[in-house]
Amino acid sequence: MGDVVDDYRLILGGKQGGREFVPLMIGGMGVDISTADLALEAARLGGIGHISDAMTLHVSDHHNKTRFTKRKAALHGDSKDDLDKSRVKFDLDDLYLAQRRIVETAMSKKHGSGGVFINIMEKLTMAAPAETLKVRLNGALDGGIDGITLSAGLHTHSLRMIEDNVRFRDAAVGIIVSSPRALKIFLRSASRASRLPDYIVVEGPLAGGHLGFGDDWHQYRLETIFQEVVEYLRAESLSIPVIPAGGIFTGTDAVEYLQAGAAAVQVATRFTVSEEAGLSERAKQAYFGAAEEDVVVTGVSPTGYPLRMLRTSPCLDSNVKPQCEPFGYALDTKGQCAYLDAYEAVATGKRGQKLAVHDKICLCYHFSKNNCYTCGHLVYRLKDTSLERADGSYQLLTAEHIFKDYQFSRDHSIALPDREPEQILVANEY
Ligand SMILES: Cc1cc2nc3c(=O)[nH]c(=O)nc-3n(C[C@H](O)[C@H](O)[C@H](O)COP(=O)(O)O)c2cc1C
Repeated sequence: MGDVVDDYRLILGGKQGGREFVPLMIGGMGVDISTADLALEAARLGGIGHISDAMTLHVSDHHNKTRFTKRKAALHGDSKDDLDKSRVKFDLDDLYLAQRRIVETAMSKKHGSGGVFINIMEKLTMAAPAETLKVRLNGALDGGIDGITLSAGLHTHSLRMIEDNVRFRDAAVGIIVSSPRALKIFLRSASRASRLPDYIVVEGPLAGGHLGFGDDWHQYRLETIFQEVVEYLRAESLSIPVIPAGGIFTGTDAVEYLQAGAAAVQVATRFTVSEEAGLSERAKQAYFGAAEEDVVVTGVSPTGYPLRMLRTSPCLDSNVKPQCEPFGYALDTKGQCAYLDAYEAVATGKRGQKLAVHDKICLCYHFSKNNCYTCGHLVYRLKDTSLERADGSYQLLTAEHIFKDYQFSRDHSIALPDREPEQILVANEY
C-alpha cells in the first residue's frame, strides 16, 4: 500500500487504453471560483481540474468580453420592476455560444497529461431546465472538454441529452451523489442510454457549496456513505472508480481513502485561497480568518438545497432587488424563484425602505458579486496552511503548492509556503 497520494493513479476509461491521472480532482466551484486557470494548473500537474458552468453568460462576459448578460437584461427590461418573471427566458443560441467558447478557450491553453473537466448542475433551472441543460452539455462537448461531472440533481435524462453527440463516448462522464439511493436512480437511467458513468464522486456532508442532504446533514459521515457505495457496486459487479469528496484536508486524509479502495479524491476548500481561484481578495482573507463557529449551513439558497457558507458573508440579510433580467439562473419554468417570494413578503420599513430579507438570498446577484462565502466545513483550518503577514492578512498560495502538498505529504503534515519578501518601507524624507 502506498504512503503518499503520488503512489496511486486514477485510471479512467478502463484498464486497457484508459487514461491515467494523479488521483486528485479539484472539484467544480461556482460561480467561477474554480477558474480555468485553476483547472489548467491541475491538468498541468497530471490531475484533474474542473471549471464550473454556473452562470455561463456572466462568466463568458467577464473572461471573453462578450455582452450576453447586457443583451438579456435589455431584452427583458419590461419586467424589472415587476415580480412576475414568467417572460424571462434564456436565448439558447447565446447560451450554446458562451458555453462552447468558455470551454474552447480553456482547452486551447491546456498543457500536461491531466484533464480539464466541467461541473454541470441540473439544479440551475434557468427558466427552461431541460432545454438549457441540453445546450450546456452539448456546448461543453463541442468545445472539447475532457470530462463532464454531473452534479446537483439526479440527472435521469442528462445522458440521453448527449447520446447523439459525436463525443458522447470520447469524453469522460461522471456523477456526484451523496447516497447509494441517488446512485441507483442514476444507474437505472444510464442503462437506458447504454452508458455507465466513468466515475462516481461520493460527496459527504462536510463539502462546500450546496449539500445533497437535508437539514439532518450532520447525521451522515462520508466514510460510511463511501463504503456503502463501494459495497453496492461490488454487489452489482460494477467496476466504476469511486471518488470521495468533502473534508479531505491533508494528503494523508486522501491516502486513507485510497487505501480503502477509492480511485481518487475530490477536494476544493483548500484551493479557494489559491492565487488562481476566482474569489475576491477580501473573500480569500475571510476564508483564512474564519473560526469554526463562523461556518454555517443555511437555507437561504432559492434552490432548496442547504448551502454552507461563512456567517460573515455579505449576502446574508440583503434585500437586493431580484436580478432575474440579467441573470435568472434559478428561475423555474413558470418564472418563479424562492427569492422572489421572500422579497415580496418583506414588510415595508418606516420611511418606505424595505426591511432585510432573512429567508432567502438572490443567489445570482450575490454570486456574481463574490458576496457569498461558500466553503467546506474545514475552512477554519486554512490559516494553518499559510503564513500570516505583519498586517494580519495571510499569504495566498499557488495552486501548484497546494496540489503538490496533497500529492506528496505524509503524516498529515501541511507544507507552508516560502515567506514573501518583506515590503520595504521607504521613509518619507520631507
Ligand atoms: C467555494 C466552493 C464552491 C463550490 N461550488 C460547487 C458547485 O458549483 N458545484 C458542485 O457540484 N460542487 C461545488 N462545491 C463542492 C466541491 O466541488 C467539492 O466536491 C467539495 O467541496 C469537496 O470538499 P472540500 O471542500 O472539503 O475539499 C463547491 C465547494 C466550494 C468550497
